[in-house]
Amino acid sequence: MKAVLQPLGYEAVGTPQLADLVLINTCSVREKAESKMSSFAEDLKTLKRDKPEIKIGVTGCVAQQEKEAVLRDLPFVDLVIGPDNIDEIPEILESLEQSSGPWVRAEFDDSDTRVWKTTTRVLNPGPTAYINVMKGCDHFCSYCIVPYTRGREKSRPIADVVEDVKQLTSRGVREVTFLGQNINTFGKRAGESLHELFERVHEIPELKRIRFTTSHPGDLKDELIECFAKLPKLCSQFHLPAQSGSNRVLRGMRRFYTREQYLERVRALRQARPDMALSTDIIVGFPGESDDDFLETLDLVDNVQYENAYSFLYSPRPGTQAATRPCTLTESVKVDRLMTLQTRLREQSLRIHKSFVNRWVEILLEGPSKKDPTKWTGRISQNTPVHVPISKQHRLGEIVKVWVESATLTHLKGSWEAVSLGVSESCA
Ligand code: 5AD
Ligand code: SF4
Repeated sequence: MKAVLQPLGYEAVGTPQLADLVLINTCSVREKAESKMSSFAEDLKTLKRDKPEIKIGVTGCVAQQEKEAVLRDLPFVDLVIGPDNIDEIPEILESLEQSSGPWVRAEFDDSDTRVWKTTTRVLNPGPTAYINVMKGCDHFCSYCIVPYTRGREKSRPIADVVEDVKQLTSRGVREVTFLGQNINTFGKRAGESLHELFERVHEIPELKRIRFTTSHPGDLKDELIECFAKLPKLCSQFHLPAQSGSNRVLRGMRRFYTREQYLERVRALRQARPDMALSTDIIVGFPGESDDDFLETLDLVDNVQYENAYSFLYSPRPGTQAATRPCTLTESVKVDRLMTLQTRLREQSLRIHKSFVNRWVEILLEGPSKKDPTKWTGRISQNTPVHVPISKQHRLGEIVKVWVESATLTHLKGSWEAVSLGVSESCA
């Protein structure tokens, strides 16, 4: 949205009070995310009262799914814009000049054309960039609102994505992360595939690293796994949402794989790339989840050993299949399970991060550390951030070797020299 607004002369300001336009970008994947928007409502109402010329917009999936409720509950809103209508913002702002709103554009093209034409617009890119390669989803996992807010799966042509990557690398980008809700089926209607995309962009000399997310275990094919053995620019990181370790729950979730199949895919990934770091998403407290089901999830987690994981309490989403199922679990049982799981996941992350201590690692220098102005942040191939003192000898975008001095749950502390047991050596 920033990239769409910049040509019109807009620039980001620090507080809503200083703004001419306020856009609240929303997520509806869980109720908690959705209710964040309401928490802004009172402040925005006051803002509009004190500064009536300010324009207020709601964008994203809540705008898409709940447009009537947004207009009813937030009558001071001037624009309601769905995720597929971002390109129309300039036009909508112009309409607003001519007649006061509210202006609503929250339509997605759900025709049979499975091709999505767009270009990636990034303002002042740093060394890393995200590229959307597809949108929507053809799975209907029973808990998930995404297919309703984003529509059916659509992919961009490989040639267009390659062009984007070339553009970005010519502006200094060295690492790209390809994004899609279920990226394994990228290009499926056009006879194209993700592994072909990887092979094509791998040939771009300036590009040093390739990442992607998110994968569906049921759609993860051997051809993609084999890329990890063949393509060194593909990073040793794989996000593979398990959601649950119980076959009974997986069936209820309509995930179309078993825990055995999931674990087999993990083994294949590690065979192709032995240093692969895995991450996952897990939902706790799905309707009907028993103690035994939960223990199976813990067992799966122990079996895999994740470098990073996102875990959530199940949140019924309106219109989804699971939302109609009765949930007999008490809130305290669900929260206890989540705490147990998160403790286990934290132990795993820390143990894996500590395994890098007293070793040289390669990181791509990304930019200044957000917390410490004397440091840069880079990432190892496995995606763990490393903070290292700023060095005059190096530049952002370079891949450099650093020594890992210590590890926390979230990052590694790096130095330019090996310091351990009183021994100091420089890195070549
Ligand atoms: N409740 C809880 N978590 C959910 N997710 C998606 N829908 C729900 C829901 N209704 C989680 C899944 C998904 C991640 C993006 O969000 O784990 O992988
Ligand atoms: Fe939602 Fe992912 Fe399932 Fe698609 S594959 S319905 S985005 S959880």
